[in-house]
Amino acid sequence: MSIKTFNVRTVATTPFNDQKPGTSGLRKAVKTFQQPNYLENFVQSIFDSAGPLAGKTIVLGGDGRFYNREAIQIILKMAAANGIGTVKVGQHGILSTPATSCVIRKYKSAGGIILSASHNPGGANGDFGIKYNTENGGPAPEKVTEAMFAISKSIKEYKILDADDVDIDKIGRQEVGSMTVEIIDSVADYQELLESIFDFKLIKSLLTSDFRMRFDAMNAVTGPYGHSIFEKRLGAPPDTVMYGTPLVDFGGGHPDPNLVYAHDLVEVLFGANAPDFGAASDGDGDRNMILGRKFFVTPSDSLAIMTANATLVPAYKNGLSGVARSMPTSCAVDRVATKLGIPCYETPTGWKFFGNLMDADKAALCGEESFGTGSNHIREKDGIWAVLFWLNILAVRKESVEDIVRKHWKEYGRNYYSRHDYEEVESDKCESLMQHLRNQLPTLKGRKFGKYEIATADDFSYTDPIDGSVSSNQGIRVIFTDGSRIVYRLSGTGTHGATLRIYLESYEADDSQHDHETQEALGALIKIADELATIKALTDRDRPTVIT
Ligand code: G1P
Ligand code: ZN
Repeated sequence: MSIKTFNVRTVATTPFNDQKPGTSGLRKAVKTFQQPNYLENFVQSIFDSAGPLAGKTIVLGGDGRFYNREAIQIILKMAAANGIGTVKVGQHGILSTPATSCVIRKYKSAGGIILSASHNPGGANGDFGIKYNTENGGPAPEKVTEAMFAISKSIKEYKILDADDVDIDKIGRQEVGSMTVEIIDSVADYQELLESIFDFKLIKSLLTSDFRMRFDAMNAVTGPYGHSIFEKRLGAPPDTVMYGTPLVDFGGGHPDPNLVYAHDLVEVLFGANAPDFGAASDGDGDRNMILGRKFFVTPSDSLAIMTANATLVPAYKNGLSGVARSMPTSCAVDRVATKLGIPCYETPTGWKFFGNLMDADKAALCGEESFGTGSNHIREKDGIWAVLFWLNILAVRKESVEDIVRKHWKEYGRNYYSRHDYEEVESDKCESLMQHLRNQLPTLKGRKFGKYEIATADDFSYTDPIDGSVSSNQGIRVIFTDGSRIVYRLSGTGTHGATLRIYLESYEADDSQHDHETQEALGALIKIADELATIKALTDRDRPTVIT
């Protein structure tokens, strides 16, 4: 009788100096991750900082991009060598970010690894990424990511098991050394959770009536979720989901649900005989874009409207404990919170800052201007959840998306909102622009530009109300006396140079002024933003690369 022995190899390695997790995990070019030991070093840093994980269960999956399957095999062998008890892996290596959060929570796992660079392009020449979520199902907080980075800078060895690859396409249990690998259905647990939140019966009656919707999965992870939930379960016709098969290169596209990158969906919704409702999600399924017939809902408005209508959804029928938005997100939701008499928290950019608020039941709905909305059902933003939330509202109110938004503006006023991105600028140019702004902070108050007068200006700093941790330098805010704002910050997710983001917001109470084109309504603020930051002069760019 032969007993199969497994050899744990301890491999000597040297540190890479660039493994600092950004806004959302470690994100780099695929080529960077393919360097010998690059992925292994970071995975070992995760295991050493997230632990002790020995004997425990973790969840593993990704958005299906290039290198997803290879990385899963490496991680499984390292997990076995590090004594992890069980790894639950999404079938074919597929698990959306929200589904991972759901599975971690449902099975009380110690944490989870998500392989994704979110909305960044994929393929051999695209990006790859790795994020760690903790036992609450949410992104690792800064103290954990800082520990990972610290370990990655001094790492000397990692552990890996010599073993065969696991068949990740076959549902069921397998053994890798003394570790169990469980290949799970990518959709089932998540779909069950969503069924407990929304009125599926009512949504089904909407989707099987003459109401028409299209959902663009952008060749990314939400394809299987969209087919299963909207078409199979809720009865929408089989052509409801567009680009519904996850591809390693996302079909060459940029899987970011906005008016620029989801252009095929936009053409359908703004074309002849347009459907009633359109939505899209991103690479890993946590973002969403909501469209009505010939109508775009800004993510900031979407959060405000969901908050105002939350009691129409079964899970939130008794009201919300509170809401939260990232600092650059428009203040539209603040007005709804005030009316409802519930707190509204303002956090730095990045979903990880909502985790403590949700764990402490201080915020039930959270959102970011960057097409992210979610709730305390999990600890990630959730694209499909947001789409179902809107469908539930539409099914109850039986009004068009546009009518619902316009009535909302009439009641609360309209926050004209836009973000201007200057991508791939040389890092030092962006740093000097931010420094130039910081230098002006003490003298900005009281400065007037036409009808706008600066009320306050600062570099946003956040003290977490639960654990007291402080996050400073989170973006320069210039706030005007009428509530309008300009925010400047540098992206923490880019992989080439620096990306300068400028967030512009102007409040308009008068409903006779709610029909302007957004860039036109923000024209004066756009000029002020350039005057204060001398963007053109300091970046050598005469216009943004992306406007959302
Ligand atoms: C961007 C968004 C931010 C979001 C993050 C992850 O980060 O602005 O709201 O949480 O992607 O999806 P940034 O590149 O601005 O640091
Ligand atoms: Zn994402």
